[in-house]
Amino acid sequence: MAFIEINGGKQLNGEVNIQGSKNAVLPILAATVLVNGITKLNNCPKILDVFHMIKILEAIGCTVYWVNSSLIIDTTKLNTSTVPGEYVKMMRSSVILMGALLGRTHSVTITYPGGCTIGARPIDFHLSAFQHMNISLEEEDGLIKCTTAGITGNDISLKFPSVGATENIILAAVLADGKTSITNAAKEPEITELCKFLNAAGARITGAGTDRVEIMGVDYLHPIEYTACSDRIVAGTYLAAVAGTGGEAVLTGIGEGHLKAVVKVLREMGCSIVCGEDYIIIASSGRLKPIPFIRTMPYPGFPTDMQSQIMSVLMTAAGTSKIVEEIFEGRYQNVKEQIKFGADIRIEGREAVIHGVPLLTGCEVFASELRGGAALIIAGLMAEGKTTLYNPYFIHRGYEDICRDLKQLGADIRLVT
Ligand code: EPZ
Repeated sequence: MAFIEINGGKQLNGEVNIQGSKNAVLPILAATVLVNGITKLNNCPKILDVFHMIKILEAIGCTVYWVNSSLIIDTTKLNTSTVPGEYVKMMRSSVILMGALLGRTHSVTITYPGGCTIGARPIDFHLSAFQHMNISLEEEDGLIKCTTAGITGNDISLKFPSVGATENIILAAVLADGKTSITNAAKEPEITELCKFLNAAGARITGAGTDRVEIMGVDYLHPIEYTACSDRIVAGTYLAAVAGTGGEAVLTGIGEGHLKAVVKVLREMGCSIVCGEDYIIIASSGRLKPIPFIRTMPYPGFPTDMQSQIMSVLMTAAGTSKIVEEIFEGRYQNVKEQIKFGADIRIEGREAVIHGVPLLTGCEVFASELRGGAALIIAGLMAEGKTTLYNPYFIHRGYEDICRDLKQLGADIRLVT
């Protein structure tokens, strides 16, 4: 059984380059299905979720191969619109293929993606939007079958600015007849990235990054080469690690742009942070200040994907902090592992109250999902002594090589397989 071993209590100093964005490349890989040709995606991270998406694309007839950190996707021989169930179970975000396969083949069959540790994660917003776009659904023994004689644009209003639903509606609307508008659309940078990719391939999308996105259907998309942006959550994770251990580090390949809410909180905790066009310098020394109140919100609010990581940093702050998790009801599953380090955290529904303690002690912990696992690594780096983290698989879903990157910052960390 593989595990990550950390000898903590050391400051982090050095420079690390930030990988391509998982949550930008996954919808873009789905979008390549709308292009009947060869797409080249640069700066694609070598993470498990991308490897899973590659297997799905190959299973539906695409040819996919790496050239260094670029991925070449040839969809000319796409031959089915049934997404293999075993991959949907492995990676629920494969649901993002629905809109693209409907746009390309006018049908899709996919197993119902289950929830995961962080929440039930239903897809009702996705499905009801499709039904307003001349797409009919039938569900039988866990399968969703969607078909259409032709997708027609419509005005869709989302009850909640769901990232995945916004992406799926855009993908279904790109080759539809007529115009689609999405009101209360998600504004995450990954939506903007997807729309930049699609527009470069010939789509006609306006309003990306705002709460109203409009898509004018076109007849086809042409092959392109595109470079994905860097991963704001990986960058935020490493900023949190330096904040928690103390030290000084330079993150390259990323600017403050998408990280404003995270940088603001780290500055309030006492870190000094300088941001350039494509670098962020962070310095942290001494005991950090607590944060009286952080609420996770849709972008541009504080990202839910950074909640567990900032909680680890607050575990040794000089006072009491409160976090309210508004997005995923299951994200506090990870707290029972964080408490093993000697942290004082109390959960009341969606609220977590963290009383900072002077010292954390290394221990044995188990990752059960991606960002919670990363938060346990941060706690291990902060703690005195040895930490062993089991189930590193979850972390490899989104971090190309977290041990390599943190070692570059001077961490005493290794993956034992
Ligand atoms: C995306 O998930 C990200 N995943 C998540 O990152 C991220 O945490 C989330 O957006 C929020 O920013 C990818 O991009 C692959 P949502 P998604 O639809 O699209 C509810 C990570 O760690 N909802 O915005 O699934 C849902 O239950 C991952 O990289 C419905 O009720 O998020 C949740 O409470 C974790 N019905 C809320 O909306 C629906 O039909 C936000 O979900 C859809 C969503």
